[in-house]
Amino acid sequence: MAATTEPVLSIRNLGVAYETSQGPVHAVSDVSFDVGADEVFGIAGESGCGKSTLIRSLLRLLPNNGTMTAERCTYKGRDLMAMSDEAFRSTIQWQEISLVPQSAMASFNPVYRVGDQIIESMRAHRRMGRAEAWERAAGLFDVVGLQADLLRNYPHEFSGGMRQRAMIAMALSLDPGLIIMDEPTTGLDVLVQERILRRIREIRAEIHSAIILITHDIAVIAEMSDRIAIMYGGEIMELAPSVDLFENPHHPYTLGLENAFPSIRNVGKDLISIPGSPPTLVGPVESCPFEPRCPFRIDGCAAANPAVVDVGDGHQVRCLQTGDVARMRTLAREKSTWRS
Ligand SMILES: Nc1ncnc2c1ncn2[C@@H]1O[C@H](COP(=O)(O)OP(=O)(O)OP(=O)(O)O)[C@@H](O)[C@H]1O
Ligand SMILES: [Mg+2]
Repeated sequence: MAATTEPVLSIRNLGVAYETSQGPVHAVSDVSFDVGADEVFGIAGESGCGKSTLIRSLLRLLPNNGTMTAERCTYKGRDLMAMSDEAFRSTIQWQEISLVPQSAMASFNPVYRVGDQIIESMRAHRRMGRAEAWERAAGLFDVVGLQADLLRNYPHEFSGGMRQRAMIAMALSLDPGLIIMDEPTTGLDVLVQERILRRIREIRAEIHSAIILITHDIAVIAEMSDRIAIMYGGEIMELAPSVDLFENPHHPYTLGLENAFPSIRNVGKDLISIPGSPPTLVGPVESCPFEPRCPFRIDGCAAANPAVVDVGDGHQVRCLQTGDVARMRTLAREKSTWRS
């Protein structure tokens, strides 16, 4: 779906399958969205729904058993699908699209100083002397709230939060048009989390990169993103401007998710979780992946995967029941609706 500004990234019908001994695992299916040049685009969904697979496929970082297909995948109008691996690595990866990976805590090499790793990565892509690169790295450390002299330290001398911020500095180092952050605050304590999120917000005001922010934490995504995609079973179930997603949710999965998180609306209320477990994704996609867990399912839901419905104002929902949303919302607030 369209971004409000000229998109930096535009993808249509992106899919990823992993070959396994049980057959193909359809980790991502029929994903389409645009990310605007000045936008924070959030992707939320529970563990295993395909978030990391989606972004690894965009960066050509899939393992050997993974294959990506797409009808369209463009970066600033350039067709990424038509680009050779070599061209992609020398012109797009890191320079134009950078990644703060999910395992950022482990992504620095323990035997080199953090600063050396950051400047070597810069110098691998840009003509730059060591002194100039070091100066730039010091500036980036300042942006993420780390003292410049920490550049001389080894990764083990950094706390988890510091390493995460150093990774964000590295992702900013080549002025990319798009930075993808995969669970940038997961596993950190709440105070450190809050500090990193504040930094990301400040960075946003200083740089001109779009950001894709991935997390299973809907509260984090709500606070940070301009638009949000809710993923389930490898598909985008609902995509909307953030405010609209929370004030005007349509998909039964989104309704269930919002019940399950503490929020202004849920203060003093029991949090309700969705019974059942996510799909295994083995075999072809022939029905709505949420159908087995959906309290509002009807006959058609298992017969075919629902098409995406536009419900207005850039809000898209993959559900057959969008016409019945008022009733679903009322029922979704009742604990009895979600009994297994
Ligand atoms: N190399 C692989 N081979 C086979 N299946 C895989 C492989 N990597 C991931 N998967 C499967 O693909 C699906 C999506 O996984 P992915 O890691 O993308 O999810 P995620 O949303 O990032 O989860 P999390 O929130 O835990 O990081 C899962 O069912 C996972 O088991
Ligand atoms: Mg992941």
